[in-house]
Amino acid sequence: MTGDEKRQQMDKPQPALPAAGEPVRFEQHIKPLFRPYDRQAMSFAFDLWSYDDVSQHAEAILGQLQAGTMPCAGAWPQEKIDVFSRWADAGKPALSTVPDWPVFLRGLAKDVTFG
Ligand code: HEM
Repeated sequence: MTGDEKRQQMDKPQPALPAAGEPVRFEQHIKPLFRPYDRQAMSFAFDLWSYDDVSQHAEAILGQLQAGTMPCAGAWPQEKIDVFSRWADAGKPALSTVPDWPVFLRGLAKDVTFG
């Protein structure tokens, strides 16, 4: 990638942030906060597009975001940090397509008959 291409990639418009009060989910809201460049730069430590990795390291990641030490080229605006912090406080939910997926899965399993 040339320098110009890399800069374009870094400056790609970010998806809309969740509205105030809207539940924050990893797939819809957290994952898109991380640019391909962030993901690639941090791949030596963890995968910023992986639910398991980001939830496991959420406290450390939030600490870096709040301190403004990551991403190294410039701190996130406060509203992006707030979205990450809301997600961590809400228990790091993964998806929103199914409102309560453990209940949903149990419901599905009930309908399955084996043999
Ligand atoms: C536990 C949290 C994190 C730790 C301990 C951490 C640590 C590091 C370290 C040691 C480097 C290499 C430093 C260097 O080459 O100068 C690095 C690079 C980088 N990290 Fe992180 N990081 C964390 C989270 C994040 C997050 C959340 C993002 C994005 C939002 C991010 C974006 C980057 C980028 C873009 C680079 C490359 C910097 C460059 O050379 O341009 N990191 N990180």
